[in-house]
Amino acid sequence: MTIKEGVCTNPIFFAIFTLSFTFFFIGGLDSSLVSGITTIRPGEEISFADSLVSQGGNFTLGFFTVKQTKYSYLGIWYIKDSQLWRVWVANPNNPLNDSGVLTIDSSTRILKITSRGRTVLNISDQVAANNVTATLQDSGNFVLTDHENGDRILWESFDHPTDTLLPGMKLGFSIATGQKKNWSLTSWLSDYFPTSGAFTMNWEPSKESGQLVIYRRGERYWTSGLLRNQTQTFESIPTLSGPPIRYCNILNYISNNDEKYFTFSGLNGSLLMWMLTPNGMIHHGANSLAIGPVDFCYGYHQSDNGCVVTKLPECRSSDDKFVQKRATFLPSNAHGNYDDNSSLSLSDCMERCWSNCNCVGFNVNSNGTGCITWTGKLEYQEDYANTVPIYVLVRGNSSRGERWIWIVIAVAISLLVLIFGTFCYLRMGKRRLEVEEKRREKEFLQELISSDNFNNANDGEDDGTEGHALKILSFASIVEATNNFSIENKLGQGGFGPVYKVTTNPVE
Ligand SMILES: *[C@@H]1O[C@H](CO)[C@@H](O)[C@H](O)[C@H]1NC(C)=O
Ligand SMILES: *[C@@H]1O[C@H](CO)[C@@H](O)[C@H](O)[C@H]1NC(C)=O
Ligand SMILES: *[C@@H]1O[C@H](CO)[C@@H](O)[C@H](O)[C@H]1NC(C)=O
Ligand SMILES: *[C@@H]1O[C@H](CO)[C@@H](O)[C@H](O)[C@H]1NC(C)=O
Ligand SMILES: *[C@@H]1O[C@H](CO)[C@@H](O)[C@H](O)[C@H]1NC(C)=O
Repeated sequence: MTIKEGVCTNPIFFAIFTLSFTFFFIGGLDSSLVSGITTIRPGEEISFADSLVSQGGNFTLGFFTVKQTKYSYLGIWYIKDSQLWRVWVANPNNPLNDSGVLTIDSSTRILKITSRGRTVLNISDQVAANNVTATLQDSGNFVLTDHENGDRILWESFDHPTDTLLPGMKLGFSIATGQKKNWSLTSWLSDYFPTSGAFTMNWEPSKESGQLVIYRRGERYWTSGLLRNQTQTFESIPTLSGPPIRYCNILNYISNNDEKYFTFSGLNGSLLMWMLTPNGMIHHGANSLAIGPVDFCYGYHQSDNGCVVTKLPECRSSDDKFVQKRATFLPSNAHGNYDDNSSLSLSDCMERCWSNCNCVGFNVNSNGTGCITWTGKLEYQEDYANTVPIYVLVRGNSSRGERWIWIVIAVAISLLVLIFGTFCYLRMGKRRLEVEEKRREKEFLQELISSDNFNNANDGEDDGTEGHALKILSFASIVEATNNFSIENKLGQGGFGPVYKVTTNPVE
């Protein structure tokens, strides 16, 4: 147990985590503004300059501004060693571009954000009785309670997750009568925009367990595989089963008639959070390890790492990949196609490029939205001053270019085989013809020998005997018998030509 706690609270892991996550929480925050208030009552206001701090000081609720955009949001963040990790946003899709306040409406008891006296967003939705308070708890849950009805919870931030799952939060759904609830995570659009992004993560229960499923724009993108309670791991998240994460999370799923959900808790003193990043990965908050998809899912591998297999565009091969580069595209040969639609995120642009056969790379605007796809000849120049990376399509080993070579080789071999085959066939045909010719020649001679004319021609000389005394000999046997017409075998020369003596008996 000491080892486990040691690993989870190990300052080194926290340091690594801090470094990798500071990045996400940008601008507008001043941690000196800790006012020490934990609770607000109807009519009280939390302005841009105020904040709520949980009892133990673990969490802070207040407004923050994303510098790159001038938009402001109400959010909850965790402070450790002056590092800020945001865990919840009240108004991801209703940003303020003016100052605002958080208050509980003094007549309706609705928790709301107003700006210059105008309601920007109703956070809670139930009109309530008189004694109502909103408290930021040490778990990170912001809870609106009606104290007149046995401390009934009217609304709580844990029921409305954004992109982060904290210990005690639920992922799944409730079908209890009168309170249908759906708990899922939704990624930010980009590192700068809390706006609902391209990815959501749900818990999908099965008979004996359940699994985490990430959707991209409504389509299944990644699945965790079933949660094994005994081994405390998901099939497709091997990192969860090894140290150090193994000892920090206690994974659990609940399944009853009213609720089916996944939840986890951490060991004492360790802050854990699972965050669904704008690029559809899950970051784990006790160290820098990413759990879930380790890279973008291209949808071509059998789901060894949980990526859902989809149909590969015809022009893409299973080894093709986008590689991130600190560079800029050179527009001399490549053509950039701009789409400044601010609802587009990096993964949308990647998808667009992936499915366009002419696309060689892409990038997004410096604020992380919009889409520029590049067609034509791929040309780029390293540019370390460029803080916005570009993505270049790199062809894998079995990519189309390579495939062409193999196709050419295969065709060449087939052609060779064909030519050789034809040659052999023709030769065989010729030999057959020769054999046939010889056979016919022989037949003809046989016929000649046995013909009446031939026999008649010999009649006189044969003294009345049937048949003839002439023998038909093959040329080959004569060659053999005369020792290839050798001089030794030559007897002399007459009017018809040379005469040879035979050494063996020539055959017909
Ligand atoms: C939250 O606050 C409690 C009470 O002060 C403290 O014991 C605990 O360590 C804190 N948790 C984290 C994750 O800082
Ligand atoms: C907020 O809720 C009040 C009371 O139900 C309603 O009158 C008002 O129109 C709502 N405002 C917005 C912006 O939804
Ligand atoms: C409201 O409820 C809280 C908590 O139960 C209690 O401390 C407080 O006195 C109540 N206030 C009024 C005005 O009834
Ligand atoms: C912007 O992109 C979103 C998401 O793809 C789409 O729903 C919307 O229609 C687009 N808006 C415009 C003006 O093209
Ligand atoms: C993001 O940047 C692009 C290009 O500078 C701009 O057109 C767009 O409006 C910006 N989006 C937002 C939401 O500010």
